[in-house]
Amino acid sequence: MQDTSFAIHPGNKKQLKDTPYQDIGDFRGFKQNGSLIQIQCEQGYVNIIFYQDSIVRIVMNPFQSPIMESSFAVITEPREVSYTLKETHDQLIISNSELELVIQKFPLRINVHSADGRVLVGESERGLGFNEKKEVICYKDMHEKDHFYGFGEKTSFLDKRGEKMTMWNSDVYAPHNPEIDALYESIPYFMTLRNGKAHGIFFDNTYKTVFDMKSEQDTYSFWAEGGQIDYFVLAGPSPKDVLEQYTSLTGRMPLPPKWSLGYHQSRYSYETEQEVRELARNFIEKGIPVDAIYLDIHYMDGYRVFSFDKERFPNPKQLIADLKNAGIQVVPIVDPGVKEDPEYHAYQQGIYENHFCKYMDGTIYYGDVWPGNSAFPDFTNADTREWWGELHRFYTELGIEGIWNDMNEPAVFNETKTMDVKVMHGNNGNPKTHKELHNVYGLLMGEATYHALKKQNNGNRPFLLTRAGYAGVQRYGAVWTGDNRSFWEHLAMAVPMCMNLGISGVAFTGPDVGGFAHDATGELLARWTQLGAFTPYFRNHSGLDTVRQEPWAFGEEIGNVVKKYIQLRYKWLPYLYTLFYKASKTGIPVMRPLLMEYPNDENTFNLSDQFLIGENVMIAPILKPTTYHRVVYLPAGNWYDYWTNKCYEGNTYMMVEASLDTLPIFIKEGTILSLGKDIKNTSETLEEMEIHLYKSDEGTSLFQLYEDDGRTFEYENGAYLLKEFRCHFQNKMITINMEDLHSGYLSSWRRLVFHLHGLTEKMELKFNGETVEMDLDEQKGTASFQVSI
Ligand code: GLC
Repeated sequence: MQDTSFAIHPGNKKQLKDTPYQDIGDFRGFKQNGSLIQIQCEQGYVNIIFYQDSIVRIVMNPFQSPIMESSFAVITEPREVSYTLKETHDQLIISNSELELVIQKFPLRINVHSADGRVLVGESERGLGFNEKKEVICYKDMHEKDHFYGFGEKTSFLDKRGEKMTMWNSDVYAPHNPEIDALYESIPYFMTLRNGKAHGIFFDNTYKTVFDMKSEQDTYSFWAEGGQIDYFVLAGPSPKDVLEQYTSLTGRMPLPPKWSLGYHQSRYSYETEQEVRELARNFIEKGIPVDAIYLDIHYMDGYRVFSFDKERFPNPKQLIADLKNAGIQVVPIVDPGVKEDPEYHAYQQGIYENHFCKYMDGTIYYGDVWPGNSAFPDFTNADTREWWGELHRFYTELGIEGIWNDMNEPAVFNETKTMDVKVMHGNNGNPKTHKELHNVYGLLMGEATYHALKKQNNGNRPFLLTRAGYAGVQRYGAVWTGDNRSFWEHLAMAVPMCMNLGISGVAFTGPDVGGFAHDATGELLARWTQLGAFTPYFRNHSGLDTVRQEPWAFGEEIGNVVKKYIQLRYKWLPYLYTLFYKASKTGIPVMRPLLMEYPNDENTFNLSDQFLIGENVMIAPILKPTTYHRVVYLPAGNWYDYWTNKCYEGNTYMMVEASLDTLPIFIKEGTILSLGKDIKNTSETLEEMEIHLYKSDEGTSLFQLYEDDGRTFEYENGAYLLKEFRCHFQNKMITINMEDLHSGYLSSWRRLVFHLHGLTEKMELKFNGETVEMDLDEQKGTASFQVSI
């Protein structure tokens, strides 16, 4: 009935008023306990502690002394930070070199300022509150110029001002539309941009939380169904600083194996060994690069995880070995639900060794998922994570190096879509309800899986793909955006969704290319593959009973376009890999909204249909059917069309033509790019690397190219190469210097071919101090020369 007009029957209107919130009240006193500042109020307690000069944690608990023990998300301890504290009759002022907390006493209001006097987070009328249902809330002043980003995986546009968003990991098969405010991931974190400066707030509460940037004009709030108001203010001041600060708390993506950055092919499901072999053969014969093929739930025996169906997959070991020989990895799906079957080893062990989620009285919680009635591992216990991890030897001993975790919200086929919130998790001897820990179930499953793979992969880097997660999920896996549909609207929505995931610390992310549910068309697949070639994670996946959407499924014309862009992904891999390396070091995402580089340019604040790869490469995908042009915003500076080399002056909107086989790409002047070629997959090594330099009239361009073996952890012991390129254009002279900043790895490259773009006349060229002859193509405005290494 909820799907008909009955849903808006006047008799359905809620009669109950919300329970009112009580204010924390007046300040009563404070004490300093080491680096902790403890404040007592009329109605509760507030603790304040700096994690570093630019990060302060504020914890309010109305019922007891705040709980400060470490969280599921935060992996760093507070550093020693020196600060000063001044008390007056009505204020406490606590300051260090980057932040100043101006705390008004009557009633208690906490205002966080930057050292240069900007109010980052202000409380005027209302501050911290709670109600008798033990829900907690926090109100903040919203400035006219505030724009909000992050919040993990959300529908709608880039800027979340005017949105109300819920954090409650949810399996939403349909619909993904602007009304759906809770999807699979919960990342209760956002970044505010105001007048060109940024700061962040991370609300570390695993209960259901709601961020309301919509209901009031000059106030926003964040609320939780339980627990405490426990939040970190990150000082910025640039968007990138905020990302570095947030990921210094919650961790960064480990450098992924190169194969996981290639093109991946999936479907629900490739149902037999023969079908998988045929699929691989098709890729090879058609010369379309591919690095991984996924096995969805049909590979299993009755959907029992850690099993293969013997009829459909009689010899998985051989299959995996043969595909690996061709450079293709096999990635099987692993869901948390363990089939209730007394003759099934995983179920038996889980029961005997006490690994499943239970109610307080000890009865096991069962829920219906793919295998039917199932029990769910209690990942909040370290020994259960260890047990679950060890079960993965089933896969790793077959040569599998990557796992796909799905349904880990956890999804259950019932009205609530998940586990009973009354289930009591063991949590290593500190039991907590599912109501409190629901949002971390997927994160902890990811932790168990990632660590197990790392142990079992013979020194190779593991790859994990996960659907559900909480803040910090980037430490374990890539995130795909779940069950989208083959709708043009979903193609468009993927762009801001992935950008906001990137701002939320998840650098490795992407949607199902082509769309999961519903039927793709050739044109949609072509345009979606163009986008996918530049999203950090690149997998084509489609659902049961939908039309096939492998690259060749729609005939030759579309097939050629799809192939061209998969090949382009491989050409760009050396550049992308360098960006992944940087993201793993700094947390700054590979795929970025323009505001990250142009925080003072208001045209970028809600620009949802363009993005940057790194700092200087602009991707402007076509997101509508039968459309062969679009408007592209070029920020200040000169921009080169990647395909034609034509240079355009920025700070303007431009109409760009884009035939079906064209993805508009613009490269900013001064950029240095490293490009490879269209290899069959990442198992193939490159002898030649292209270095592209885009002429700029000003300053020196700088680029650091990163390379390592792409597979192992040896880079952690110094086995990597970091080559720096510096380029300077002046009058009629080009100076290029190349230097190895670190040379712990011998790359396969034997030649570097330099391509200079934007030359209108012959110029003198000096490479590492020596004069070099170059060929100038006056018509194209390009010149090139080679260097052997
Ligand atoms: C879920 C996943 C989807 C998968 C399907 C079957 O819907 O989101 O990707 O194909 O389950 O396992």
